[in-house]
Amino acid sequence: MAFSDSDCLRARADFPALERTLGGRPLAFLDGPAGTQVPAAVIDAVSGYYRSSNANTHGQFVTSRESDETLLTARRAMAAFLGAPDWRTISFGQNMTTLAYSLAHAFGRLFRPGDEVVITQLDHEANRGPWLGLEERGVTVREVALVPGGTLDMAGFAAAVCERTRLVAVGSASNALGTVNDVAAVRALCREVGAWLLVDAVHHAPHFPQDSSALDPDFLLCSAYKFYGPHVGVLYTRPGLLEELPVDRLRVHDTAAPWRIETGTLNHAALAGVTAAVEYLASWGQGDALRARVVSAMTGIAAYEHGLAAEYFEPVREVPGVPV
Ligand SMILES: Cc1ncc(COP(=O)(O)O)c(C=O)c1O
Repeated sequence: MAFSDSDCLRARADFPALERTLGGRPLAFLDGPAGTQVPAAVIDAVSGYYRSSNANTHGQFVTSRESDETLLTARRAMAAFLGAPDWRTISFGQNMTTLAYSLAHAFGRLFRPGDEVVITQLDHEANRGPWLGLEERGVTVREVALVPGGTLDMAGFAAAVCERTRLVAVGSASNALGTVNDVAAVRALCREVGAWLLVDAVHHAPHFPQDSSALDPDFLLCSAYKFYGPHVGVLYTRPGLLEELPVDRLRVHDTAAPWRIETGTLNHAALAGVTAAVEYLASWGQGDALRARVVSAMTGIAAYEHGLAAEYFEPVREVPGVPV
């Protein structure tokens, strides 16, 4: 799909927040990393859940069955969005940070003193803090440096990953600088030593099509509020891996993926909104299956945003002292 400025204007009409004015003037929302506004379809899905299906899961009555369906549909939608092999790879949580801490608790029980974890200086604190906490368990945390130009020191990356490395945590794109990292190269480094790869796709997922099946990370995290959805964290786990993790869980809780790492009752209404967000994005794409429409839409969005970025950088390059 190729998008034009008129498509962009058409899309604005889908977002009620963009109608808001202050002192008679329209508001401009420039705080991209803080999250996107949501289209009416997402707002309707969230309120629609409360209007008609509000219940807990696993009951033998209509609203409970609808709630089960709401969750399953959200997992299917996110599997389509992430290019994941099936809905069982998709777990939900409060946000990316909380899911990362849940994983860190499990890793803390598994990793031994002398084991190593590799993180980067370019990453959001949510993809650093949980793993730095493993130092309390005697785990060594190595940091890959950020070099001038705003990229990661890839030679340093290769040097940091070794036979003792259990986990490499890296972002696919930086929310601070916009740098897109060569995560496939990091995947190859992890393979050489048998380390797990954890990808923070929170900033990448709103801007590029995701393909978990091709990249094959062990863990990939993102946050629906960055791509027109509600505040929900999403975890993709490689098939079969979640069951191996000693996560925090109640004794009565389901031990299988994707439920294993989900504690307590999820935000069902928000998950109805997650499905609506994926479907909204897909409505801008072409194809028969949801996955095909998502990829088509995200490819078009990436190209359109590249054009916008080029327009922005052209004059900025001329400003003395501004490194671009
Ligand atoms: C790159 C990146 N990673 C992680 C996070 C944390 O996500 P959450 O707010 O879902 O915990 C953010 C939030 O801005 C982010 O930009």
